[in-house]
Amino acid sequence: MKTKLLPTNVLNAVKRTRMVYQVGRKARFAFGSYMGARYVPALDSRAHYNDFMLSSTSADHLRSYRQGAVDFVGILERSLQEAGRDWQGIEACLEVGCGYGRIVRELRHKLPAQAMSVCDVIDEGARFTAAEFGVRRVPVVDAMGEEYDETFDLIYLLSVYTHLPRLMIEDNLARVSKLLKPEGVLVFSTHGKQSAEKAEIYEQYWLDKEKLNAELDRTGFFYERYPYYYAEYGLTWIVADEVKKLVAAAAPGLEFIAHHALALDGHQDVFVYRRA
Ligand SMILES: C[S@@+](CC[C@H](N)C(=O)[O-])C[C@H]1O[C@@H](n2cnc3c(N)ncnc32)[C@H](O)[C@@H]1O
Repeated sequence: MKTKLLPTNVLNAVKRTRMVYQVGRKARFAFGSYMGARYVPALDSRAHYNDFMLSSTSADHLRSYRQGAVDFVGILERSLQEAGRDWQGIEACLEVGCGYGRIVRELRHKLPAQAMSVCDVIDEGARFTAAEFGVRRVPVVDAMGEEYDETFDLIYLLSVYTHLPRLMIEDNLARVSKLLKPEGVLVFSTHGKQSAEKAEIYEQYWLDKEKLNAELDRTGFFYERYPYYYAEYGLTWIVADEVKKLVAAAAPGLEFIAHHALALDGHQDVFVYRRA
């Protein structure tokens, strides 16, 4: 069954008129919210109809949806090792931008539910993940007040900074760094230079690959909002040195541990930091 209702060429035609696209998207999400979740045998669990990471329940797509999550849990494990930690020492873990629980579904095989917290600006996603997998939903970090005093051993963001403008990334990094315990580990993914060099894989009709690469060479950073969105959300590329500078300025309490180019699905870079 396909949960992405329109073929790409028709969807692109709709996207060219932002208002029409947004009305359609709202209707699609309202329909998904009404339908809720269904059991998906290949996932051994239920999946929400609004899970935008699961655009189809064909065997191939389900396999890559699940494998992507399993691989990322492996990346988290390696990141912990690189930072001198392991799963046994993780009493509190936070996923920022959990979507509808793709990663938590696999991570629960490594960590007990009571050790996991999630948040997402799409609150329905965080609520579903919390209810379905017994983990805790916390406010989005950007909305946590100064009085929020819980801290975490591990915080990760998968495909979140790949969509945000610079100021939002800097602000988020500063907040996330304060939420880490001493020796706490931060793992996040980015689109780096090698991803920009093959930007056609993202199949974005509006994206000018030459402009992207020229700006990346000039400034180390590129962001463009999806032209069919009103909110600040789009596609972001950052070269590795710029990521390091950005983190050093926004979150000076973080110590660089590792960078793995194209480590995730062959197109996203992974960065590992530890709170000093
Ligand atoms: C591409 S999806 C990835 C979802 C999930 N990490 C995964 O890989 O399955 C990015 C998610 O980040 C969420 N997001 C974006 N900015 C956020 C923020 N500032 N705080 C929390 N979630 C955010 C989006 O709503 C979306 O669910």
